[in-house]
Amino acid sequence: MTGTLTLEGVTKQFDTGTVAVREVSLDLAPGDFVTVVGPSGCGKSTLLRLASGLETVTRGTVAVEAASTSYVFQDPTLLEWRSALRNVELVGELRRVPREERRRRALEALELVGLTGFEAQHPRKLSGGMRMRVSLARALVADPDLALFDEPFGALDEITRLQMQTELQKLFQLKGFAGLFITHSVSEAVYLSTRVVVMSGRPGRIVAEIPVPFAYPRPPELRYAPEFAELTGRVSEALGEHS
Ligand SMILES: Nc1ncnc2c1ncn2[C@@H]1O[C@H](COP(=O)(O)OP(=O)(O)OP(=O)(O)O)[C@@H](O)[C@H]1O
Ligand SMILES: [Mg+2]
Repeated sequence: MTGTLTLEGVTKQFDTGTVAVREVSLDLAPGDFVTVVGPSGCGKSTLLRLASGLETVTRGTVAVEAASTSYVFQDPTLLEWRSALRNVELVGELRRVPREERRRRALEALELVGLTGFEAQHPRKLSGGMRMRVSLARALVADPDLALFDEPFGALDEITRLQMQTELQKLFQLKGFAGLFITHSVSEAVYLSTRVVVMSGRPGRIVAEIPVPFAYPRPPELRYAPEFAELTGRVSEALGEHS
């Protein structure tokens, strides 16, 4: 696994004149799972799009070292006419992976996200949480070195959301990709990550980077620990001072 991402002095100004992010520098190495929190509209999605190459920088540099990068959006963006299995297989189809291997890897990925037994179901027959699981399986099937997440759990109910967090950090530990994860939830940010990056209001700048020292896998009860509350407190404070 290589999986590194380096942003240096990145500024993005759109044609409309809006400066979405200003002078952002960020380093992601293998073993890092970095979460980004910041007020709505501060440029978080823009930052992710810049990191993935979907958007180009106005100033600064973006360097990615990864054989494969995956992107998970807030909406699961599944193809309704394909089964869960065939949605996950799509990635392999596009990359012309031989049929047998493609299927084997897709089944493995679905097992990893706890969807064994649901391979043949179409997305509309699955719950919101299960649809997000399919989306995660699709992202993991290519064994990415770098995984980018734009608020993937934002639309889920609270219970499903906590479950997905617990599962995602297990997957991170198992698969070892470098992760960059956007969220509005301070507790989600701390629970998942090795480091929380706090952005200011637009134009988004990085105003704090707070390391999270807890070992993986992290038990769900970690969320009630005083050390956890201490960290969420520090993140909230940084957010409050700069929004
Ligand atoms: N393609 C675009 N053209 C012009 N302006 C844009 C474009 N994309 C985003 N913006 C502007 O850039 C700013 C940052 O947007 P962005 O979507 O990155 O924020 P965000 O932090 O992800 O917000 P949210 O928390 O609501 O998801 C906003 O003011 C938005 O209107
Ligand atoms: Mg966004």
